[in-house]
Amino acid sequence: MFDPREFLRTKRDRRVHDPQAIGEFIAAHGRGEVPDYQVSAWLMAAFLNGLDPVETDALTQALLHSGRVFDWSSLGRPTADKHSTGGVGDKISLMLAPLVAACGILVPMVSGRGLGHTGGTLDKLESIPGFRTTLDPDAMRSQLDEIGVVMVGQGPDLAPADGLLYALRDVTSTVEFEPFIVSSIVSKKIAEGARAIVYDVKCGSGAFMKTLESARSLATRLVGTSKALGANAAALITDMNWPLGRTIGNALEVREACETLHGGGPADTRALTLDLAAVMLRLAGAASDDRAARARAQDALDSGAAWAKFVAMVRAQGGDETALDSPRDLCPAPVVAKVPAAADGVVAGCDCFAIGELVVGIGGGRRAKEDDVDPRVGLVVLREPGDRVRRGEPLAELHLAREDGAAVARAAACFTIADEAGVRGPGVLERVG
Ligand code: URA
Repeated sequence: MFDPREFLRTKRDRRVHDPQAIGEFIAAHGRGEVPDYQVSAWLMAAFLNGLDPVETDALTQALLHSGRVFDWSSLGRPTADKHSTGGVGDKISLMLAPLVAACGILVPMVSGRGLGHTGGTLDKLESIPGFRTTLDPDAMRSQLDEIGVVMVGQGPDLAPADGLLYALRDVTSTVEFEPFIVSSIVSKKIAEGARAIVYDVKCGSGAFMKTLESARSLATRLVGTSKALGANAAALITDMNWPLGRTIGNALEVREACETLHGGGPADTRALTLDLAAVMLRLAGAASDDRAARARAQDALDSGAAWAKFVAMVRAQGGDETALDSPRDLCPAPVVAKVPAAADGVVAGCDCFAIGELVVGIGGGRRAKEDDVDPRVGLVVLREPGDRVRRGEPLAELHLAREDGAAVARAAACFTIADEAGVRGPGVLERVG
């Protein structure tokens, strides 16, 4: 009989788990035989005392085989996907998945909810009225065949054990740990049946990986583990010292995604979407070199084909496509407050983590597993690093459920105003694989 207390003692005392015991622990939790409090205790013990590569592989296998492993080869087209390690304002999946599908590649994207201070694709999509993020396997197959793209969460069929662990990690401050991130992401991506995978490994104050060294290590491990499980994989390490695009918050990010799919949108959001699309097309064998891949992606964006795919997907997943006719009106917040600059000077930088936490705090993310997210709230950044501002001029807009002076003050404190101009580094810092 599996005894969770003995399993917990092993990690508490810094010993190494038998790989089989990891499988039993995860399976028992999935059957409801191990309660969340024991799993939470283990998450913290592992976070503090470490998991070695063999334990991490065992955890990946346990999560992967907690549901089905999908195979779309009978649909006769290549499959590809991307997964981000989590950032602030990272709405790239919303544009990227339909864009790559518009290039003839199947994208069976399985995403997550908000995690820690970062937003989640599923929470963003659910700000579209009626949008369903769970589909049964038959519905997934027919939508992939007809439209070429699905964007869903785990559900009972697909790496369900990751869904359970993910929700606990989110609220037990056990997110920023390489073995958990690798096992969580790779198990979902392999289970969903994508044969070509690009990882967007975020690096900087708004990422789980704060340094280039830790981002490199994570990228190498994600790529290596995916290849060992039979997928073609690569990673881009990308900057997260400033929010991606101008918006942070669920509906606000959907609005910006619509703008980008219409050919507008912020330059960084557009550029990273095309960079990642080009890698996906290359990995999936749909383009012979980077230049051809990028041109094809650019064409799908400029021609409106990516937008048409997005709308078709929203419709197929029960979303109210008429809500997209005027995205600016999607889930408006009752209060929009200006965030004033604290001094005269130049915008030198921001604490991206603090912005993410602020948005969680005003209702855009969860502090407890049972919390609902408020799709309306968030932050719109109005300035760029290097912009000169005068004291009191707006740096950002805070979208709130109610008046909240303390939140406005917290938002102002997220930005650094200095004498020297701040510079924003390149979006893509390094490529791995
Ligand atoms: N995304 C995931 O799916 N899992 C993580 O652990 C981090 C980002």
